[in-house]
Amino acid sequence: MNLKKQAALQAVKYVHSGQRIGLGSGSTVSYFIKALGDLVKSGDLVDIQAVSTSDETSIQAQDSGIPLVDLDHSGNLDITVDGADEIDPNLNLVKGLGKALLREKIVAAHSNEFVIIADESKLVSQLGDSVPLPIEVVEFGIDAQEKWLQNLGCVAEIWRSEDGSMLLSDNGNPFIRCWFKDGIKDPSTLDKIIKSRVGIIEHGLFLGMATRVIVANITGVVELKT
Ligand code: 5RP
Repeated sequence: MNLKKQAALQAVKYVHSGQRIGLGSGSTVSYFIKALGDLVKSGDLVDIQAVSTSDETSIQAQDSGIPLVDLDHSGNLDITVDGADEIDPNLNLVKGLGKALLREKIVAAHSNEFVIIADESKLVSQLGDSVPLPIEVVEFGIDAQEKWLQNLGCVAEIWRSEDGSMLLSDNGNPFIRCWFKDGIKDPSTLDKIIKSRVGIIEHGLFLGMATRVIVANITGVVELKT
């Protein structure tokens, strides 16, 4: 079976009737939404409400018959299930290469449980080893932000589509991607430095947030907890 799907099906076991659920974004989560929708349709899962982290997820959830509510009207969520771009041995994450990191981080911060689902290709010994760090910024002064980020020791580039236009989040903001040649040695310090910069909205480091990580490999599913 497809490994992303396998991890998603395991996560469904942690969802119960009556719960408020955060729905992440990306291809792994799309298997979770499909499985959740099937349980709602069959009546095995009742009285659930979900909060979406992207327009794409909202469309899939609506098509799957999952009732959506705003985060503002749902109080703290029981559980959020999301994917990741990288997972380190401390269950810290890089996320956001699906351009949904801001809403994903807000929803995760309002969740009692934050469950990550992934195939084993997402496991790394150090964050930044295999993917760039995406950073959502305001467009005003974006070239100056790019230069400032370069000075942190990465190769920073405005994230553009093939036609050269800036890719935008569902919030209407552009991104800068940062490649750290030797990985991110001190994620916690980097988190604080980037967050304190005016004009930067949010970055893709999710530190100390995941409460459970479900990883599928060819021999089965492994669960990691902090
Ligand atoms: C979107 C994300 C995704 O969770 C991450 O990119 C993983 O995506 P996929 O499941 O398609 O590999 O952070 O912003």
